[in-house]
Formats: sequence, C-alpha cells, structure tokens
Amino acid sequence: MEGKHYINGEWSTAGDGVINVMNPATGEQVGTVPNGGEDEATQAIEAAAAAFPEWSKTTAYHRSELLMKWHDLLMENKQEVAEIMTKEMGKPLAESIGEIEYSAAFISWFAEEGKRVYGRTVPASKEGKRIQVIKQPVGVVVSITPWNFPAAMMARKMAPALAAGCSFVAKPAKLTPLTAVRIYELAEEAGFPKGVINMVTGSASKIGKVFTSHPSVRKLTFTGSTEIGKELMKQSSETMLNLSLELGGHAPIIVLDDANIEEAVKGVVASKFRNAGQTCVCGNRIYVQESIVEEFSRKLQEAASDLKVGNGLDEGVQIGPLVDKDGYEKVAEHVKDAVDKGAKVLVGGDGKAENDSYFYNPTVLLNANSDMLVMNEETFGPVAPIMTFKTDEEAVKLANDTRFGLAAYFFTDSMTRGTYIAENLDYGIVGWNDGLPSAAQAPFGGMKESGIGREGGQEGLEAFLETKYISIQL
Ligand code: SIN
Repeated sequence: MEGKHYINGEWSTAGDGVINVMNPATGEQVGTVPNGGEDEATQAIEAAAAAFPEWSKTTAYHRSELLMKWHDLLMENKQEVAEIMTKEMGKPLAESIGEIEYSAAFISWFAEEGKRVYGRTVPASKEGKRIQVIKQPVGVVVSITPWNFPAAMMARKMAPALAAGCSFVAKPAKLTPLTAVRIYELAEEAGFPKGVINMVTGSASKIGKVFTSHPSVRKLTFTGSTEIGKELMKQSSETMLNLSLELGGHAPIIVLDDANIEEAVKGVVASKFRNAGQTCVCGNRIYVQESIVEEFSRKLQEAASDLKVGNGLDEGVQIGPLVDKDGYEKVAEHVKDAVDKGAKVLVGGDGKAENDSYFYNPTVLLNANSDMLVMNEETFGPVAPIMTFKTDEEAVKLANDTRFGLAAYFFTDSMTRGTYIAENLDYGIVGWNDGLPSAAQAPFGGMKESGIGREGGQEGLEAFLETKYISIQL
C-alpha cells in the first residue's frame, strides 16, 4: 500500500523520500508513506486555516451528518481497515476490529454531542445589563498520535474537533501511518470540504516544530510518552497553544481478599494482556492481598498459559508481537531485573526475537517488590508482576507512589472498601471490578505526569471549544 499526505483535498507524495512501513509479526514491508517535513506541515496548517472560517460557521447538524457518513463508511470497511492495522502494528485481528468499532463509536458519539454545545445567560447585577456566555471552536487543531492505537487515538481527537467546528491536521505515528491513510480516504468519501481535514506523514521532530510554532495553530492534541509531551509543552509555550496531552501510565491493579477471584483474574488478563500489554492504561503492577495470593497467582498463571501468541492475522491468536526491537528489549530488561531481584517466574519470562519480529510470551512474576523496574516504570509488554500487601491503606499508598496518574484498577465486592479506594486513588480513570473502562462517552485522561485534559465524553468536546463572555449594556 502506498500511503500519501492529504493536504487541501489533494493526495501528495512530497517530502524527503519515503518511510517503509514494516509488519512486526513477519519483518516484511507492508507499504510506504512519504517522509514529509516542514513544508508539508506548513501547507497542511495553511489549508486548515483557510478552511476554518467557513467550516466553523456550518451548523452542528450539517457537521453531524458528515461525521455519521464517515462513521458508516468506517463500519462498512472495518474488516479491511483492521487488516491494515494488524499488518502494520501487530495486534490480533479481533482486537483491530474492536479498535475500529471503538473509533467509530467516538465518531458517532461526537456527531450527536456536537449538537449540544450550549452557552448560558447569567443574571447581571445592574439593570440594563445582559451577560451571555457562548462557546466557539478553538480554531486550527493539530494532532500527533501513537502507534499502539493507530485508529482510535486519531478518531478520539478528530471527531470532537470536527463536531465543534475546528479544522484539523493529523500526524500519525511513523510505525503505523497506513491505517490513518485509509481512514482519511473514507473521510474524503464522506465529503468533508477541502482543507477541513488534512494529514501529513513523516518526521515527528520536523512536523512537531511547525505544529508548535505556526501562528495559525490554536490547539495541539497529543497522545504519547510523557517525555515527548513535556518537550511539546515547552515548544508550545511560544505560541501559548491550547494543549491536551494524554501521556504515559503505570497502572496499579489492587486485588482485595473479598474479591471474586475468577472475575479478578479475567479483569487482570483483559487489562494486562490487551494489545500485548502495549497500552497506556494496561495494568503494569499487581498488588494482591496476602491471604489470597496463592490462589490468585495460580489462576492468573493458568489464564496466561492459555493465551495464544503469534501473527495477529492467524486464527485464535491473542498476543501479537511487540512493535519493535526497543520495545522487546525493554520488556526483557524488566523481566531480567525482576528475576535478579528475587521474582519467581510462574509462566513466560522469555520470547523470540528473529527476522525483525519480536514476540514476548505472556509472563507472570511472583514475589515482586518496589525496587524492581517493573514496579516503577511502564513496561509496555505482556508482563504481570505480583506483589503482596496487608491493608487497604497500604495498597492505596503503594498504588499512588508514582509520578503517573492515568488509570488504576481494583477488585472488591465491598462497597465500603471500594469507595475508600476509588476516592483515594490519584488517577484520572479508575476501574472497579472492571479491566476495560475505556468508552467513547467517558472522559479519558490522567493526573500528575500522565497528562493534561480529557478525551471522550463531554470533556472531550469542551477541549475543542473556547468560552466567550459577552457583556451587553442595553
Ligand atoms: C491508550 O493506550 O492510551 C489508549 C487505550 C484506550 O483508549 O483504552
């Protein structure tokens, strides 16, 4: 597949050569995209700026119709788009199909929610005065999205931006741009006017510099690592960009002694092994109450042993490859460090790296402790380290002892204990007996160094709106 930029309603191959897109399951080439840079980013922003005045004045109902056409096309083509995703990213086909449905859910939800952008009238304290508050689209939005969810992260930004009346420029990840290209082709077919949606592929640093410095850009929305998020925030200070940053996580999972253990194991498997552990909200460290650790770890070991590893296009595969060599080496380093510091491998603990493909087996580690890398950093791989705790207070303290605050999970059937834990976790997303809390209608985002702002839900639309206060003296 030969991907192209989409700028001002035209497909283009401009740039400094091409980027080869590789299949992480086979090491084979899937296609190419142009290696764009400053010029292409500038042209895309200028096209979006030219399109903004007219687009922002269209009705929310008109924008909703276009979004729904795009949604329908995506759903009609979900198998084909999902196959592209599995080929360039590695996730099992069933998960890719799930991601296309998740992406489509953002589009349809925001198509509706865009009709509910309300202002308000505030009683004035003086006679003859009227105070109105109105909401308006922020303007040109630029977005940078990651390789682990090539469709959903773009849809979660693009759908609310378009519903709000903003024009948009996307920069998909270098490793997984082809899914984005296909989704843009469908958006073009849906009929978005020239310049309203644009996309550039290529060098993150060159495109990122233009995104953060061009005077026409009003908002940057980014999903990726905390380190890059901080860099973008520094760069954006010059133009005082409105920012949404969805950054790294290091999610704790707490299992209390009154939890339904079978359900807790299912929830942990869903959270931990989704996308081979390569999501920002994946459980990274598991705290289990002492009295149930034996039963819980045995059941988790059994469940992890049943997971089928392989090429995501093959029938029944549940764990695909890690995206690249760096990802594989990080996982292997975390496991080695844990074993050196006393962890016991219950299952896994090894992988296969050959012919530019990197598979790591689902791994469960017992006797983890707070000195281990895996208990302090995001692993981004299929590794489940188990550490014990005695009291609920201790579990919360361990869970909060990190600079990250994206997602946290816990399992208990007690309303009282659960309410205490939910209210005391310093995290933007909390799953209570739920390993998969993400949903289009809910606000997704983190506290602390996991980011700024929320995506999805009403908050996700608000992120693309400015508030204007109009004071009228009659
Ligand atoms: C992420 O990895 O940040 C996205 C996961 C999700 O939306 O559930």
